[in-house]
Amino acid sequence: MSWKAFKSAEQALLGGVPMNWMTKWPGGFPIFLKSAIGAHVEDLDGNDYIDFCLGDTGAMAGHSSPEIGEAIRKQALIGISAMLPTLDSVVVANELAKRFGLPIWQFTVSATDANRHAIRYSRLVTGKRKIIVIDQCYHGSVDETFATLDASGNTIMREGNVGAPVDLDSTTRVVEFNDLVSMQNALKHNDVAAIIMEPAMTNVGIVLPESGYLQSVAELARKNSVIWIVDETHTISVGPGGMTAELGLRPDMLTIGKSVGGGIPTGTFGMTHEIASKVTKKTKRAVIDIGGVGGTLAGNALSLAAMRVTLMNVLTDENFAKMISLGNRWCNGVETVIKEFNMPWHVQRLGARGEYSFQEISPRTGREAAAALDFDLDQYIHLRLLNDGFLLTPFHNMALMSPYTSEEDVDAHTISFRAMCKDLVT
Ligand SMILES: Cc1ncc(COP(=O)(O)O)c(C=O)c1O
Repeated sequence: MSWKAFKSAEQALLGGVPMNWMTKWPGGFPIFLKSAIGAHVEDLDGNDYIDFCLGDTGAMAGHSSPEIGEAIRKQALIGISAMLPTLDSVVVANELAKRFGLPIWQFTVSATDANRHAIRYSRLVTGKRKIIVIDQCYHGSVDETFATLDASGNTIMREGNVGAPVDLDSTTRVVEFNDLVSMQNALKHNDVAAIIMEPAMTNVGIVLPESGYLQSVAELARKNSVIWIVDETHTISVGPGGMTAELGLRPDMLTIGKSVGGGIPTGTFGMTHEIASKVTKKTKRAVIDIGGVGGTLAGNALSLAAMRVTLMNVLTDENFAKMISLGNRWCNGVETVIKEFNMPWHVQRLGARGEYSFQEISPRTGREAAAALDFDLDQYIHLRLLNDGFLLTPFHNMALMSPYTSEEDVDAHTISFRAMCKDLVT
């Protein structure tokens, strides 16, 4: 039935899918969703899958948890989007402040928008034009971030960047992760408004920060009066306050989306009092709605009700402890198999998230990590495991745990992963 659905979808949807990246699902066509509950999804043909993709973090709180579903239902019956603030926004902002240490918050429809707005505010506040990004980063569909370095160290656009409005070297400088000298050099020109980065890279496999690296970046940003934006959209997998709380980081701005909405589209960004007051001073009320920071549905009542219940009742300390323990169990299983078959692969851990990549040692930079990417091998692995009843993200080999994931789910994956590795080496 998924195949039939795809054939009819091809008549109405570009590439037969509601959004282009869904063509990346393996097997020539995506399975069509019938239901997603807890840590499982079911397709139209009635096949059940253990879901380690979890909407690439959008469903990290588990699919359709009864608490979140009930809060959404209640709010949906009394007002979804009225362009007015609700009390939930105050509760959520206070909770985010407690978790991430930044006092002032704004809400968006996506993490992409949170990043776009944080970058715009950085330019507004500093009067500088450029941003620094990490090579091979991903922060959503944010124009300025689709930059990379050519062999001579020039900033160029990344392969696949569609319809870029301007040359990337007019907006962006690119540096390698874990490279403080490059960061220092990129800041020398005195034209940088913000450094935007994930505290651990998660979109090219996982690349962990070396000890002291993030603190040194913060220090460089401070010395150069540049705004340091930390994107915790994926790295919240390490705990309720992400790596910011875990490592005691003190970013000037912080962005996050996906998981915090429990599946309802949302994003949010936090800032210091100092930035907030500069933004307020530099913003004219009469034209505040046409300044490039906004979104009619941003901060809507439904998304805030969803965020409130997700943060207060589901993505709790207790559930994180469980998810992280499962993440370790998943990584241990995969690591044991890799050793058993002497595969030239390794596993990286990031709390409730684990990922294996096709290289023996942990990469230090995005470039090193990207060198090990293998789209065809990914497709084989994803299709094989899909046929065994596991859903992985269509992007590389990440697995994420929800509060509903069980030890049995994880161990079942280890068994299938072992059978696959055995076939790959024989
Ligand atoms: C680190 C990071 N930030 C931001 C985003 C953008 O999220 P969204 O696509 O929900 O806007 C992503 C998406 O994968 C991401 O990985």
